[in-house]
Amino acid sequence: MTTATKPEISLVGKVALVTGGGGGIGRAAALSLAAAGADVAIIEIVPERCDEMVALIEAMGRKALAITANVMDRDAVIAAVDQTAAHFGKLDILVNNAGGVTWRPFAQLQPKNWQRHIDMNLISNLAATSAAIPHMIEAGGGSIIAVTSIEASRAAPGYAVYAACKAGINNLTRSLAVELSEHGIRANAIAPDSTRTPGMSGVFDGSADPARWPVPSPERQETIRRRIPLGRQGIAEECGDLIAFLASPLASYITGAIIPIDGGTWASGGWIRDRDGQWVLPPDIPAAG
Ligand SMILES: NC(=O)c1ccc[n+]([C@@H]2O[C@H](COP(=O)([O-])OP(=O)(O)OC[C@H]3O[C@@H](n4cnc5c(N)ncnc54)[C@H](O)[C@@H]3O)[C@@H](O)[C@H]2O)c1
Repeated sequence: MTTATKPEISLVGKVALVTGGGGGIGRAAALSLAAAGADVAIIEIVPERCDEMVALIEAMGRKALAITANVMDRDAVIAAVDQTAAHFGKLDILVNNAGGVTWRPFAQLQPKNWQRHIDMNLISNLAATSAAIPHMIEAGGGSIIAVTSIEASRAAPGYAVYAACKAGINNLTRSLAVELSEHGIRANAIAPDSTRTPGMSGVFDGSADPARWPVPSPERQETIRRRIPLGRQGIAEECGDLIAFLASPLASYITGAIIPIDGGTWASGGWIRDRDGQWVLPPDIPAAG
């Protein structure tokens, strides 16, 4: 007879680093990893958010390190990874979360705009990953988790360079999963759609406390209800918990996966609810027949 035990996410004894870990999905990831037992470092550009995160993680009984840096400075990213490993004695988990986007049609972008998107969304990830791999090999294995986007897998008008970077990270993830398998390092990505975060709410400085974020207008909420099958935006904690799961032994056979966390938007492939709640292809074309 087997004794059934409830599986739980346990990261006791592990060391994690989260880029952009002071707000939104990065903050939620850092807190979920700490809740599962990991000691956690973050790289974060807003100093106040660094202080908040150290206090929150230490209040959970874990060790914390917050490095105030801009992930668009690749040398600073590499130094932060090495600082984390030196501070805690190792590095097991890297969450490449930091990223961002500005809406503008591609034809209006200048090379400096492409470069900014690429530095923020792609080079930051390459720099952190490249610096983390030797530490993970030394630790005997590890887990690399990227936060990409639903926009990596569909057209994203007005966000073309961002989408190209995120698509690049999806395929970087697959390539790394294969290349690093012999070292026991897993590489996965999560692909959110619209998720409630300070950035999505237009809050870019000061505390990342959700109490500061404006509530979406009723019109915006109605649009969300019609567009997303589960009828709401995602919550950053849902992404954080998925990241902690992927980092944990419960995901020991998952590598090279790009996991949508989008309330069903990717699956819906353009179908939306009409005002009566029926599924239609816009603009309100009847389904079939
Ligand atoms: N929120 C969404 O709807 C959504 C959807 C799809 C993908 N994503 C992706 O999720 C990731 C996180 O997004 P979010 O919405 O949580 O962002 P956010 O702006 O709410 O939070 C990002 C955190 O990173 C910090 N940060 C910003 N620029 C930085 C820099 N240059 N260097 C260091 N730290 C920096 C911010 O201060 C903030 O604390 C991004 O890669 C984003 O592309 C988000």
